[in-house]
Amino acid sequence: MSCFIEVKGVTKQFVGMKALDKVNFSLDRGEVRALLGINGAGKSTLIKIISGIYIKDEGEIFIDGEKVKIENPQDAIDLGISTVYQDPQMIPSFTGFENIYLGEENSNKLLFSTINRKKLRAKAKMLLKKYPLEVDIDKPVYLLPAIEREIIAILRALSKDCKLLILDEPTSILTEKEKHVLFDFIRLLKSKGVAIIYITHHIDEVQQICDGYSVFRNGKDVAHEKIVGNKVDVNKIVEYMLGESLSHLYPKKKKNKTEVAFEAKNVVVGSKVNDVSFTAKKGEVLGIFGLVGSGIDELSKAVFGSMACTNGKFYKYGKQISVKNPKAVIENGICLIPGNRKEEGFLPGLSISFNTTIAKIKKILIAGININTKKEARDTQGLVDKMEVATPTIKKHVNELSGGNQQKVVFAKALYTDADVYVFCEPTVGVDIGAKNKIYETMRSLSENAAVIILSSEPEEVYGVSDYIMVMHKGHITMEKQDTKTNVKEMLFHAVIEEREVEHGE
Ligand SMILES: Nc1ncnc2c1ncn2[C@@H]1O[C@H](COP(=O)(O)OP(=O)(O)OP(=O)(O)O)[C@@H](O)[C@H]1O
Ligand SMILES: [Mg+2]
Repeated sequence: MSCFIEVKGVTKQFVGMKALDKVNFSLDRGEVRALLGINGAGKSTLIKIISGIYIKDEGEIFIDGEKVKIENPQDAIDLGISTVYQDPQMIPSFTGFENIYLGEENSNKLLFSTINRKKLRAKAKMLLKKYPLEVDIDKPVYLLPAIEREIIAILRALSKDCKLLILDEPTSILTEKEKHVLFDFIRLLKSKGVAIIYITHHIDEVQQICDGYSVFRNGKDVAHEKIVGNKVDVNKIVEYMLGESLSHLYPKKKKNKTEVAFEAKNVVVGSKVNDVSFTAKKGEVLGIFGLVGSGIDELSKAVFGSMACTNGKFYKYGKQISVKNPKAVIENGICLIPGNRKEEGFLPGLSISFNTTIAKIKKILIAGININTKKEARDTQGLVDKMEVATPTIKKHVNELSGGNQQKVVFAKALYTDADVYVFCEPTVGVDIGAKNKIYETMRSLSENAAVIILSSEPEEVYGVSDYIMVMHKGHITMEKQDTKTNVKEMLFHAVIEEREVEHGE
């Protein structure tokens, strides 16, 4: 293998902090390299420099041994660099196929002519033949679920003849099946000599698909290792990432005194949630596990009033409550921490302090009208410290934080509401292992005085953090047991039960 790209001594400074500090990194043709590091370590910043989104302050980049200038995205594309960003930019009213070819030379003009749009659509169809992913390319992308938008972004990168493909947390919302389709492409591209940078928080994926890994910590590259014989030492990686070892990921479960706090009875949401009932107790964490598409997302939205129920009744401490809209739900002391932070979790162009206090603004109002800015700052700082949000100031806009730190702000906001019932939906998407630990601990400590419900597609986390476990599949509850009476294997079995039946029947 020959070296394709080499980054030497790259530094990037943002106001008040160094995101990258004299970073070195090199990658061979046909090599798949994982880029690992906790939230805010500098991973996305490095790939944005390589893709021409950010300009480096210092350092050099070489491609095939020659020093290159990458000053804008076009420079990167011309060098054969394709990137799927953590937050892919799209034009919401454009269809999938238009977004795939957006920004390509000439295509922006072509998009306005019917004949050429037909050609582009045919091109996109060809692309889908090559990479059979399930996605609707004819609908405006704002109508698509997040997962299909992610696929459009991946297709956009694959549509180019690339020599280096960069994937920034591509699998955070993909299903197992889609993940395998993606892994197959990666193998295919690798066999053609394409170099691949793969950013992920899932260490298990490193073993599945990567030839080696590089770890970043605090803007510095702290390790570059090859994977020999498919064996990855997870503890060693975690130590590189955190700078210390992590003795346990999941907090110890304490047996508290319990009391029924929240009940959902016979909930139906269209064809997605089919007659689901559950009881959440104060003093306990209730875990509902289901794969992407199982209905857990719709169930959480129904509880939060952001999706209408076809049927269902809800009770808090025995009294029936309304969930007709999010406002009514919040007033009833229920707090939802949504899975898709970009769309539902916060207002990106506003400060951390605004975002943290907004749902419970009453707490910082003087005479009901003026904001007590000192209290706002004090309260926010307390929560930012508690959640260890990496930021120089609480005035920073949330969209300037790294992905995982944005998720921590969503948590800070939830903590500020002092709710009786907390509903966490996919709470650790894109969150590093150290922060995951922090989040699980927060959930356990909240459960001492409130009912905590976690809905997630990661079986290990549901098992690790819950006292009582339910499994959902195609809108139905297929298993429910005390945590001590089940295990991850059994949970998974009940989450894919029908697929197994189909396989066996064939
Ligand atoms: N546009 C920006 N303005 C100001 N600061 C920024 C900007 N982009 C990134 N940063 C800061 O640079 C640091 C590194 O961020 P980066 O996005 O590279 O982290 P990351 O390793 O990708 O983390 P994550 O796993 O959370 O995505 C963070 O502290 C972040 O707040
Ligand atoms: Mg990132």
